[in-house]
Amino acid sequence: MAVQVQGVVARSKGAPVTLETIVVPDPGPGEARVKVLACGVCHTDLHYREGAINDEFPFLLGHEAAGVVESVGPDVTDVAPGDYVILNWRAVCGNCRACLRGRPQYCFSTFNATQKMTLLDGTELSPALGIGAFAEMTLVAAGQCTKVDPAAPPEVAGLLGCGVMAGLGAAINTGNVGRGDTVAVIGCGGVGDAAIAGSLLAGARTIIAVDIDDRKLETAKKFGATHTVNSRTVDAVEAIREATGGFGADVVIEAIGRPETYEQAFYARDLAGTVVLVGVPDPSMRIELPLIEFFGRGGALKSSWYGDCLPSRDFPMLIDLYLQGRLPLGDFVSETIGIGDVEAAFEKMHHGDVLRSVVVMGS
Ligand code: APR
Ligand code: ZN
Ligand code: ZN
Repeated sequence: MAVQVQGVVARSKGAPVTLETIVVPDPGPGEARVKVLACGVCHTDLHYREGAINDEFPFLLGHEAAGVVESVGPDVTDVAPGDYVILNWRAVCGNCRACLRGRPQYCFSTFNATQKMTLLDGTELSPALGIGAFAEMTLVAAGQCTKVDPAAPPEVAGLLGCGVMAGLGAAINTGNVGRGDTVAVIGCGGVGDAAIAGSLLAGARTIIAVDIDDRKLETAKKFGATHTVNSRTVDAVEAIREATGGFGADVVIEAIGRPETYEQAFYARDLAGTVVLVGVPDPSMRIELPLIEFFGRGGALKSSWYGDCLPSRDFPMLIDLYLQGRLPLGDFVSETIGIGDVEAAFEKMHHGDVLRSVVVMGS
């Protein structure tokens, strides 16, 4: 039987979000219905509300979530009712050219639930990033559910579903940060701080945090930054070189998505170093650099999609490290809020007051 629950909906461009009754169908083949326990508020939710992603309104927002599988479709075998899971954006297909070459983290044919959740009048909802988890219940492809240790509280576990995973993975997976490396992270919001935490976990020797907001730099220290640079007052490239014996960092992670900070990243790495772009630029942005510098500096210029994560590999491992006290995922949770507080959380996010506000269902 389809169920009716409360969900946070963006009805039209720029309008404040509203709490609406939504209809969540029974899971069909390949689908799972999940009782959401907690869901973080991310910039991407705000971008959906502002019409900056696409114009397929109304959106059911929320996509950084943990919950418990309530029911599954007839053919689903990899998760079962009662499983404690983190939701991810995309189920991996297993058959595309990336999957067949053993690189499912790059799957080019990922998918979400087939059936649509709707408003009471039958209007179809577009779930944010194929999830839609500011709701008491949501419908996803079963492959979007990854089982993890239920000892991790949902407001913490859910964060791996998006921004924190993107940052951790930018360092660990894409940047391949290793023991003894020097790393610089430009932009220390949730994504940048996660890149710092990932670099620390991977054994980096020097971790330089760059931001224009001193509050962010203070927080970055808590996650493992050994040096901080306020690039409003100091030249970021010079400061990174200074902190690395005059050479530049082995890995520079750009966690904002802007041409000027990408250029800083490009020039702040050592010869044969790696630049990782995890911040998402907008389509109008352009960059112009001398081609000879691309050649002369060698190394690698990479982008990190969702931290190049493979949920089945990375989520349970990172939750275990958290439970062992080796990864401070709890420090990303600035506050827990109720499902009716998402609009207020957007406001705080906009002012840079929080790393993550997390909706806890029933609070
Ligand atoms: N130089 C240095 N730091 C900057 C600059 C700049 N020119 N402009 C902004 N910042 C800092 C902000 O002060 C803030 O601390 O970058 C940080 C960005 O953090 P958030 O806005 O909290 O964003 P976050 O959630 O970390 O995401 C960062 O990754 O996934 C993408 O879409 C996301 O592009 C975004 C990026
Ligand atoms: Zn997100
Ligand atoms: Zn695939």
